[in-house]
Amino acid sequence: MIRRTTNQQELDKIQEQIVEDKVCLELAQQSTQLVFGDGSPDADMVFIGEAPGKNEDIQGKPFVGAAGKFLNEMLEMIGLKREDIYITNIVKYRPPNNRDPLPEEKAAFLPYLRQQLEIIKPKLIVTLGRHSMDVLLPGLKISQVHGQPKRYQGRVYLPLFHPAAALYNGGMRQTLIDDFALIPQILKTT
Ligand code: URA
Repeated sequence: MIRRTTNQQELDKIQEQIVEDKVCLELAQQSTQLVFGDGSPDADMVFIGEAPGKNEDIQGKPFVGAAGKFLNEMLEMIGLKREDIYITNIVKYRPPNNRDPLPEEKAAFLPYLRQQLEIIKPKLIVTLGRHSMDVLLPGLKISQVHGQPKRYQGRVYLPLFHPAAALYNGGMRQTLIDDFALIPQILKTT
């Protein structure tokens, strides 16, 4: 009998591997739990944020706080639900006091993020904010490239502003909404 492992089973293995490999042990010990990813393991699109915040740390799911609510609203505007996409972060434990993730923390988690992408094989990778953009599309400035699809190493990326940064900044909020509106067309043509 041929038994195929599902994407979800393969993702579960990576999640276990992060714990086994003791990735960023100090961060792990200061946080409540690993926040690995959420949504469809067979999605066409993967969204990648920065790191879990307080709510994410408590619930064990990415983007469940205010930024997540805004993200859900923008998904709805383009006819999508959370279950239609996969969502994760570059750093998978909450940094203390919501400080920015350190370069070494991003580097430590990058191989696991790459494995997640390798399993899901999305048509489009949406980076939210500069932290996930920097590790996957190095050398770009988010203020210059947001909303522009980028082909790099055989994958298609769309760098966007981070919803938390845009939440209380009227101009950036509208820019993010406008960039989001481009997604259906980009998906269709990739
Ligand atoms: N901000 C992020 O970058 N990720 C989350 O999961 C929540 C807020």
